[in-house]
Amino acid sequence: MFTSNPFAALSASIPTVYMQGYIVVMFLLVMGGTILDMLHKKSAQYFFENAKKAKKSAKRSVGGGEKVAIATSVLVKEVLTSGEFDNPRRRLSHLLTMWGTIIFIVTTAIMIFSPSSTSTLLPQLWHIGALMLAVGGYWFWFFIRADVAAEGLSSFRLERADLFILSLLATSTFALIWSFTGGGLTVFFALFILSSTVLFGGVYWSKFAHMFFKPAAAFQKRVIMADGGRENLPPDYDLTDPEVQRKFPDVPTYMGKNPPNMGLCIKAERANHY
Ligand code: HEM
Repeated sequence: MFTSNPFAALSASIPTVYMQGYIVVMFLLVMGGTILDMLHKKSAQYFFENAKKAKKSAKRSVGGGEKVAIATSVLVKEVLTSGEFDNPRRRLSHLLTMWGTIIFIVTTAIMIFSPSSTSTLLPQLWHIGALMLAVGGYWFWFFIRADVAAEGLSSFRLERADLFILSLLATSTFALIWSFTGGGLTVFFALFILSSTVLFGGVYWSKFAHMFFKPAAAFQKRVIMADGGRENLPPDYDLTDPEVQRKFPDVPTYMGKNPPNMGLCIKAERANHY
C-alpha cells in the first residue's frame, strides 16, 4: 500500500487526463485566489507604500550585493527553516506542516502526471508528507494555537480564520484514510477531493497566501534594520552605557549605575492569564 501509486489504480475509474485537469484547475485557483486576496486587502499596495515610507527614515542605503545576501538569509532562515518562530514547539510544528504539505503536493502532482512510473519512493514520500502534515497540524490545532494554549478557549470553537488549517488537516487525514482503506472510488476519496478543493479554492478567504507574503515581509523587515531606519523605533540601548544614562537620567536614578539587562518583558512569562 505504501509503495504503490494510489492514483494509478484509480485511473481504472477516472481517466488520468481528468486527474491532470483537476491539478491544473487547483493551481489556477491558488493563483487567482492569491491575486484577488492581494487586490482586496491592498496588501501589495500597502507593502510598497510602506517600503517607500521606511526608505525616508533610512540612515544608509543598502546596496544590491547586500540585498542578495539578505534575500539568501531570508530563504535559509525564515522560509526553509521557519526561523521566525521563536518558540521551538511552534517552529517544529510549522516545519512539519510546511514540509509535509510541500512533499505531499509535489508527489501527488508527479504521480498524476507520470502514471506509468513504477517508482516506489514517490508513494512512500506521499504517505510521509501527508503524515508529517497531519502530525504538525493536529499538534498545532489542539495544543499550540494561541486561542487554545493562551486564551483557554475550546479546541472545537471554529472561526473563518481556521479554514486554512482545517482544510489542510482534512485533506491529509482523508488522503491517508483513503489509501489505508485500499484506495479506489470510495466515500473517503470524495472527502479527500472535497477538502482539497476547499483548501485550494478557499485561498481568498483563508490564510493560504501567507506562504507567498511572509517571505516578502521578512525581507523588508531585514532591509529596514540594515538601513538603520528601524521603522522609527528607538535603538536597542545598553543601559550601562554612561552616554545613555546621561541621555536618560531616570535610568541611573531608579535602576542604579549598573542596571541588569532584563530582556524583553513579553518573554518574562507564558501568556496564560485569560
Ligand atoms: C506549504 C507552505 C506552508 C504551510 C502549509 C504553512 C502553514 C501554516 C499554518 C497552518 C500556520 C498557522 C495558521 C493559523 O494561525 O491558523 C502558519 C503560520 C505562520 N506561517 Fe506558515 N506555512 C507555510 C509556509 C510559510 C512560509 C514560507 C513562511 C515564511 C517565510 C511562513 C511563516 C508563517 C508565520 C510567521 C506564521 C505565524 C503567523 C501567522 O499566523 O500569520 N509559512 N503557517
